[in-house]
Amino acid sequence: MHDKILILDFGSQVTQLIARRVREAHVYCEIHPNDVSDEFIRSFGAKGIILSGSHASTYEDHELRAPQAVWDSGVPVLGICYGMQTMAVQLGGEVSWSDTREFGYAEVRAHGHTELLRGIQDFSTPEGHGMLKVWMSHGDKVTALPPGFKLMASTPSCPIAGMAHEDKRYYAVQFHPEVTHTVQGTELLNRFVRGICGCAGDWIMGNYIEEAVQRIREQVGDEEVILGLSGGVDSSVAAALIHRAIGDQLTCVFVDHGLLRLNEGDMVMDMFAGRLHAKVIRVDASELFLGQLAGVTDPERKRKIIGGLFVDVFKAEAEKLKAAGNGVKGATFLAQGTIYPDVVESGGTKTKKATTIKSHHNVGGLPEQLGLKLLEPLRELFKDEVRELGVALGLPHDMVYRHPFPGPGLGVRILGEVKPEYAKLLQRADAIFIEELRSTIDPHSGKSWYDLTSQAFTVFLPVKSVGVMGDGRTYDYVVALRAVQTSDFMTADWAELPYSLLKKVSGRIINEVRGINRVTYDVSSKPPATIEWE
Ligand code: XMP
Repeated sequence: MHDKILILDFGSQVTQLIARRVREAHVYCEIHPNDVSDEFIRSFGAKGIILSGSHASTYEDHELRAPQAVWDSGVPVLGICYGMQTMAVQLGGEVSWSDTREFGYAEVRAHGHTELLRGIQDFSTPEGHGMLKVWMSHGDKVTALPPGFKLMASTPSCPIAGMAHEDKRYYAVQFHPEVTHTVQGTELLNRFVRGICGCAGDWIMGNYIEEAVQRIREQVGDEEVILGLSGGVDSSVAAALIHRAIGDQLTCVFVDHGLLRLNEGDMVMDMFAGRLHAKVIRVDASELFLGQLAGVTDPERKRKIIGGLFVDVFKAEAEKLKAAGNGVKGATFLAQGTIYPDVVESGGTKTKKATTIKSHHNVGGLPEQLGLKLLEPLRELFKDEVRELGVALGLPHDMVYRHPFPGPGLGVRILGEVKPEYAKLLQRADAIFIEELRSTIDPHSGKSWYDLTSQAFTVFLPVKSVGVMGDGRTYDYVVALRAVQTSDFMTADWAELPYSLLKKVSGRIINEVRGINRVTYDVSSKPPATIEWE
């Protein structure tokens, strides 16, 4: 059993960042809605509790309180932003509304020599005060300390920017230690979970493999498992982990819809069937998909057709495996690469006041339709942890650190009607772009442009333009290169790729891919554009 931190979510946009910082300190944590029951808190067995921020105000929303059991549990509590305000109100202090919002960078002065901030500072003033560079986002503020608390931090506009009750080990900060703009934020959270709560720091992916393998073996016993392999990071890591646990009791089904990147299907087979010796069934369904897509130009219809066919083809394979026969037992489990952000985002509080609910595109409802039990070994991991685990399981770095690729694949990167000839041209052009991004190193960071971008790809435009090559006139297709930088894919900036790189890519595509005679670069940010073109 790992030491655990419980994070109570009051609906802040950045609650997941708190969890990620805690996990980076190698401490296991879970996010739960703020209105869980007292019994839940007692049985969870946390070594410490963190109260998140919120969009709400303590005086307008009386349901947004920490359960009484938090204060009765005897473990350390850290309140962040709204979490500090509710701590103040619940323990006898005061919170007031202020007409100026404080938003962005601030310098906070440390007070009171608390255990939380001991030795943690960015600089000190000529008078010798320790100062922290932090990120603030609040309207309300604590105006009176609860009994027993002392001042821990202040700014000129927020005289109580931090407070502490050291006997009870309650700490609270008005700023956000979980965001990277708070320079010492990681240190501070580390101090809380490791130092103050005394968590062991035993959440390490390399060691986690054994534990996960054990758990999968217990859950599955001698039954059979089916997994839909897409070539993406999550399903690949899930497959490698489950294969490590139960070997040939796992069968992977890889549906090739013909709209994958160049040689991707062969690479997936080579990795899983070739190197890991896993059982993989490759279903070449490209004719079916491309046939159904013929003549269809509407982006949403294209998505629906691809998604629907994918489920049909996968279901048909799964039904066969479920039935099995000839002395072979049928499958009873369906494995999915669901990861922790999918789980928390689809949760939300009972009162539905906090966490926004996001519908995600996991193959919804499939296990029920197929009458299979669900196996989701990555359910408690963040993306960074899934990647670390993948590397620890021996998957190639390039596969595990790949840019995301949409489920409908090149289907949404060929504008309008999808034709096999367009897909072939696009695959080759895109492969050149990615190859050059991987091999071009930025001298300042020492990283490749592939690693410096969050997603990069080529889009096929089914229009023809005139060009000249050698002595002849050409009349060929156009592609657009797209490369973006983003942390959450909700907003994104187009990447300022070096001109020399763009020049090389464009030269290679036009020379090497006959049928394309013009290359453009997309300089639109999201919003108002989206990352994909359809
Ligand atoms: P947009 O184009 O909405 O993309 O800015 C944001 C992120 O979502 C990915 N994306 C998809 N992924 N099925 C998927 O699995 C889809 O239909 C789909 N559409 C967009 C996109 O690649 C980007 O990472």
